[in-house]
Amino acid sequence: MRSFLSLSSPFLWAVLAAAQYAIYQPKNQVIYGGTYLHLTASTTAAPAFTNAAAYDPTVLNPPAVPNPPIPTSVPIQLQSSGVSSNVSAPVNGAFMGISIEMSVANQVLGKNSSLLQVAFLNLMSNLVERAGWVQVRVGGNSQESAELVSSLPNGTMLAKDVNNTSGPTSTPPLIYTLDLLYTMGNISKLTNTHWYLGIPFIDAQNVSLAIVEHGQTILGSNLLGFQAGNEPDLYAAHGHRPSTYSQFDYFGEIGTLVQQVANDSAISNKNNLFIVPSIQVTWTPESVWNTGIVSSYSNSLYALAVERYPDDNCAALYPSLGAPQNPQDIFINYLQHNASTGLVSSYVNSSAFAQQNGKPFIMFETNTASCSGFPGISNSFGAALWALDWSMTMAYNNFTAALFHVGGQNAYYNLFTPPPSNQTKYGAEWTVGPVYYSALVMAEVLGPHNASQVSDITQNINTPIYAIYENGAPTKLALFNFVTDPTGASTYNAVISIGGGSTGQSNATPSQVQVKYLLADSVSSKGNFTWAGQTLGAALKSDGRLNGTLNVTTVQCDQSANTCSIPVPAPAFALVFLTSGSLQAVSPSSTVTFPTSATTNTGSNIYIDPSMLATAYGHSGMENIRGATSPGSLSGASTLHTTLSGALAIFVSALGAVVVAWRW
Ligand SMILES: *[C@@H]1O[C@H](CO)[C@@H](O)[C@H](O)[C@H]1NC(C)=O
Ligand SMILES: *[C@@H]1O[C@H](CO)[C@@H](O)[C@H](O)[C@H]1NC(C)=O
Ligand SMILES: *[C@@H]1O[C@H](CO)[C@@H](O)[C@H](O)[C@H]1NC(C)=O
Ligand SMILES: *[C@@H]1O[C@H](CO)[C@@H](O)[C@H](O)[C@H]1NC(C)=O
Ligand SMILES: *[C@@H]1O[C@H](CO)[C@@H](O)[C@H](O)[C@H]1NC(C)=O
Ligand SMILES: *[C@@H]1O[C@H](CO)[C@@H](O)[C@H](O)[C@H]1NC(C)=O
Ligand SMILES: *[C@@H]1O[C@H](CO)[C@@H](O)[C@H](O)[C@H]1NC(C)=O
Ligand SMILES: *[C@@H]1O[C@H](CO)[C@@H](O)[C@H](O)[C@H]1NC(C)=O
Ligand SMILES: *[C@@H]1O[C@H](CO)[C@@H](O)[C@H](O)[C@H]1NC(C)=O
Ligand SMILES: *[C@@H]1O[C@H](CO)[C@@H](O)[C@H](O)[C@H]1NC(C)=O
Ligand SMILES: *[C@@H]1O[C@H](CO)[C@@H](O)[C@H](O)[C@H]1NC(C)=O
Ligand SMILES: *[C@@H]1O[C@H](CO)[C@@H](O)[C@H](O)[C@H]1NC(C)=O
Repeated sequence: MRSFLSLSSPFLWAVLAAAQYAIYQPKNQVIYGGTYLHLTASTTAAPAFTNAAAYDPTVLNPPAVPNPPIPTSVPIQLQSSGVSSNVSAPVNGAFMGISIEMSVANQVLGKNSSLLQVAFLNLMSNLVERAGWVQVRVGGNSQESAELVSSLPNGTMLAKDVNNTSGPTSTPPLIYTLDLLYTMGNISKLTNTHWYLGIPFIDAQNVSLAIVEHGQTILGSNLLGFQAGNEPDLYAAHGHRPSTYSQFDYFGEIGTLVQQVANDSAISNKNNLFIVPSIQVTWTPESVWNTGIVSSYSNSLYALAVERYPDDNCAALYPSLGAPQNPQDIFINYLQHNASTGLVSSYVNSSAFAQQNGKPFIMFETNTASCSGFPGISNSFGAALWALDWSMTMAYNNFTAALFHVGGQNAYYNLFTPPPSNQTKYGAEWTVGPVYYSALVMAEVLGPHNASQVSDITQNINTPIYAIYENGAPTKLALFNFVTDPTGASTYNAVISIGGGSTGQSNATPSQVQVKYLLADSVSSKGNFTWAGQTLGAALKSDGRLNGTLNVTTVQCDQSANTCSIPVPAPAFALVFLTSGSLQAVSPSSTVTFPTSATTNTGSNIYIDPSMLATAYGHSGMENIRGATSPGSLSGASTLHTTLSGALAIFVSALGAVVVAWRW
């Protein structure tokens, strides 16, 4: 959905300034393929907000039922204890976290520290109740030139500096006040949220360390670390660095940064600070490790990280990249287990390397596809199954966390989307996407004990299966069915045996197990998702609380045969709790929620100051910057075109003309 800038828009003049800057910068001319810039604008009326990507109605056809059909009976033999091989290192329950593009932080978190978004609090609270805490990154491309300012009008904490668009990205830099950090701190006080931030790395010779200085003071132990550079392997392509910029230059910049921190008396904690290198696919992780960056700066590093999307929809943003891919043709790519195992293979060396160096290894930004995702895929039930399979594959391969990205109104893949700014009151009318359900389920898959070890025991790419162990004993089974088949012919039974058989152990299958299902009619469904019977509502209808009666299915086992048969419909995900303790650990006895009325919350003594919860219209500072989000990064296919942050995108047309348009 595109609309062109109105000539009367004040933002247009920012765009014009940016375009002129690009013309006169030789390195940008290279990026634009040597074409000259030609600006077009039209006064076409803006479409209604609900035409934005986040509410796109495209529904695809589910991929065909596999031929040959999937086996309908799948024997699964588990050992009852002593399992120590083919399992991951222990994984934290908060493994699946959230990455929020900095430019939309005021829409997602709240207008400011005294007007928090209640739905966001509820959405975090759901995860915290299951995993104990939640990890959230505020950053992305828009962090790279963000500048701390002392104040903004009307209690605004974040804006775009439309008066100051000069800069290599040709986008207005973000400006924010300390109140952004207070907002994050206030959220942490209400629900156990821990944060990642990013330092602005656009000029690595003399970075502003203000976010480190104040982040440490304001967020304290709720602060996890700071990204030092976001996708530095794309800096040259994006015009932030000379074309010769290499892994060794990046290594040198981290050295400069470490020295700057050492000299900064306002930074009290100088160790375990930075997250590097957060590359996409232009550099291999090994080529960065080979610079010696980790051994050289070990004390300064909090974690090692990469970013990866399995595909990109950039051609939909940049016509010169050719015809956009047809989502229907590539839907199947998300609905087979080899999608995840293929993607993870580039990182197996690196997760072992991180373990050897005693550092976490984080997938810092991922989702179905960069450049906003694909309509019909990124917002379908299939995406929920894909994100769960991808998360469990990363966990099995010793990633320690994975952050799924949230853009703005113009992204298809959001875990959740706040209502369009002018359309509603704060608190309700959010849209909860399929990938949020994945995060909810993943929190239960791993639970709060910090001890779950994941084992991939998949036998068929259409039906991934994982066993979860704690202290060597199986606690849960995760069963997928990627197939859509309303006839019932593709429902399979997982026939579980614990102990007995070939294990040399005595029979240990329990008399019954509990099962929670993640369900929808089809992998292509855009709504009516349920997790154990509960839902987060239809588009523009959620306040972030689970609604409906909890439905946990009890399955009686056959102890004489030492088997337990669990039906898995097509499509579905089933989480089998093999012990009552494993279910209890993820079943909150009471749910802390943050109702829109904001004066009470059920089942808890926590008092929420109603004045902190947003009940007013907001976003005045961003009103002219609709869909203020990053279109994301190219997944590596093209380095000839620049990917820009913000609502602004420059389209290089087939005629060699550059059209500046407004992307929703
Ligand atoms: C580990 O997995 C490999 C590959 O699937 C398999 O060959 C091997 O038997 C497994 N080892 C154990 C102890 O289960
Ligand atoms: C600040 O709020 C006042 C009153 O609501 C409004 O008139 C003014 O335009 C706002 N200023 C900005 C910069 O948003
Ligand atoms: C948040 O914004 C509201 C409405 O503009 C304002 O009344 C309030 O003072 C602001 N709070 C802070 C901490 O700036
Ligand atoms: C931009 O400049 C105008 C005029 O000086 C000023 O009113 C406005 O507040 C400035 N905007 C920002 C975001 O600094
Ligand atoms: C523009 O940004 C630069 C660098 O952050 C800053 O020094 C300068 O004061 C800004 N200019 C305006 C007009 O805001
Ligand atoms: C929220 O943040 C403000 C800083 O703007 C602080 O004064 C206030 O005490 C915080 N509220 C809570 C409940 O932490
Ligand atoms: C770095 O930038 C700060 C202001 O942003 C300035 O005061 C300082 O002199 C600069 N240092 C160097 C070495 O350029
Ligand atoms: C993950 O880490 C565990 C514990 O160090 C190890 O046994 C296992 O082989 C690793 N898995 C992979 C895929 O590297
Ligand atoms: C919100 O803004 C859009 C675009 O300007 C407009 O079409 C729509 O009518 C507005 N909605 C409300 C409730 O003001
Ligand atoms: C959800 O189910 C209802 C009732 O069957 C149906 O009317 C509605 O279209 C469904 N919504 C979606 C997004 O599939
Ligand atoms: C919860 O579900 C019920 C029954 O489907 C519905 O009437 C109600 O509006 C829902 N509440 C919310 C907050 O979505
Ligand atoms: C609970 O879920 C099971 C499995 O999907 C289903 O068969 C049963 O009808 C559900 N019960 C209710 C009351 O919805």
